[in-house]
Order: sequence, then C-alpha cells, then structure tokens
Amino acid sequence: MQCRHAAVSSLSGALVVGGAAYLLRQSRLCGQYGRYAQAGSRCWPAPLAWFLQEVPAFLVPLLLLLGSDAPDQGTGRTLLLWTFMLHYFYRSVVYSLLTRGRPVPLKIIVSCVIFCSVNGFLQGHHLLHCAHFQHTWLSNARMAAGVLLFYLGLTINIHSDHILRGLREPGVFVYRIPRGGMFEFVSGANFFGEIVEWCGYALAAWSLPAFAFAFFTICSIGPRAYHHHRDYQQRFQDYPRSRKAILPFIL
Ligand SMILES: NC(=O)c1ccc[n+]([C@@H]2O[C@H](COP(=O)([O-])OP(=O)(O)OC[C@H]3O[C@@H](n4cnc5c(N)ncnc54)[C@H](OP(=O)(O)O)[C@@H]3O)[C@@H](O)[C@H]2O)c1
Repeated sequence: MQCRHAAVSSLSGALVVGGAAYLLRQSRLCGQYGRYAQAGSRCWPAPLAWFLQEVPAFLVPLLLLLGSDAPDQGTGRTLLLWTFMLHYFYRSVVYSLLTRGRPVPLKIIVSCVIFCSVNGFLQGHHLLHCAHFQHTWLSNARMAAGVLLFYLGLTINIHSDHILRGLREPGVFVYRIPRGGMFEFVSGANFFGEIVEWCGYALAAWSLPAFAFAFFTICSIGPRAYHHHRDYQQRFQDYPRSRKAILPFIL
C-alpha cells in the first residue's frame, strides 16, 4: 500500500484539535464514565465494554501488518508496531478480563470504538507505509530511550491498575484511597503511567501521528487525573496532603 500522506496529516490534525477540544470540555465536566457517569444512561458491563472499545486499536494494525506486501518491515517499525499493539492487547484482553469497574455508558463505548479504530489505522499505516527510520547514532539512541520510557510507563500503568482493582471486592462499587507504587506521589498514577508510555512512543517514533496521539492522551487523561484528585480531597478527610494530581511533586 502507498503512503496516504493527506490522510495521515488530516487524521493527526484531527487528533490534535480533538484533544484540545476535549481538554477544554473537561475544564468544566469530566469524561462521563466511572464515578462521573450520569444516572440513567444506558450501560454495558465493564469487561465487555473495555474489550469492544479497545480491541480495534489492536486488530486494525494487526490486519494492516498481515496485509502489508513489503516482506521486510525493518526492525524499527516492527518493534514500534508490536509495542503499540502490546499496550492494546493488555487493555482489550487482560484489563477487560480483570476489571472491577462499573458498567460503561454506551455513548462512551461508541466514541472509543471510533477513536481506537481511527488511531489504530493512523499509527499502523504510518509505521508500515510512511515512516523512514535512519540508523544514525542519534536516531538509534532516541528510539532506545523512547522504547525504554514506553516500557517504564506500561509497568507503572499495569501496576497502578492492579492497585486500584485491589481496593474493591467484585460487584461492590466503592472508592477507597489508593496506596503504594506511584499513588504515593500522584492521584492519577495509572494515567501518569499511560502518559509516560505514549510520550516514550512518540520519542521513539519521532513522527507527527505519534506526537499527536501523545498530545491527545495528555488532553484526555490529564484533566481526568485532576478531577479524581479533587474528588478524593472532597471524599476523604485523611487524603494525603503531599500527593499531587498527575505530575509527581509538581502538579
Ligand atoms: N490513552 C487515552 O487517551 C486513555 C483514555 C482513557 C483511559 N485510558 C486508560 O484506561 C485505563 C482506565 O481508565 P479510567 O478512566 O477508567 O481510569 P479510572 O477512572 O482511574 O478507573 C480505573 C478502574 O479503577 C476503579 N477505581 C478508580 N479509582 C478507584 C478507587 N479509588 N477505589 C476503587 N476503585 C477505583 C474504576 O472503577 P469505576 O469504573 O467504578 O470508577 C475502574 O475500574 C487507565 O489506565 C487509563 O490510562 C487511556
């Protein structure tokens, strides 16, 4: 398949504009799922919802990879493509099997399916058909640092998800103070891990689509961490005072 430069630029631009719009919207109202879901909205069980809404970001790049006619994909692009897909395999299969979250509103599921399909296509198509990786010491060092950062973020994200799950028994939707790991520093430790992941991915890929996705992620879950932080402070009188919302020691 030929690189579709116009589609790559338009979709990357849409991620940036969409991210900025979502950030603005969340200055008033947090994304309405989980503790902020509106009463009475039509919902699906969390395991099914998380599987359906995240799996396109794993399947679309996989289909692009299988359908690609270039026999040698190159180390850089193959590594990054599998890195991207690994995250979404975790989120769509492992996370959804283990989640103890409350049911997810249908409109959130639909918007995530669209987002994950488009972003899966954008990242997969760009890596497979557009990206050119140079093998200078600088680009190799950047790729190594980015991939390391990605795996550090993934570890923080998975560990934080594990801590959150341990706070409740299945079917009981209570909220408790998360403790341990990066939660000692920030209220949104899972979000912090995910932001580190996609910033690492952008550093390694060094491309417009990867930076656009990292920007979208910051706009999408950065404010959510802030809303959670405020919610904890209002809910718990003994909430740790030194804990920040999303950036350790800073914000
Ligand atoms: N890349 C992106 O743009 C993007 C966007 C959205 C999400 N994500 C990722 O998807 C994952 C889940 O996101 P999310 O927004 O659902 O995270 P979240 O609001 O922190 O919730 C994560 C899970 O933990 C439960 N939970 C949260 N705080 C709790 C507490 N204090 N006590 C007990 N249980 C608690 C939630 O239950 P309830 O559902 O019942 O609240 C939910 O099952 C995160 O790792 C996030 O990084 C990524």
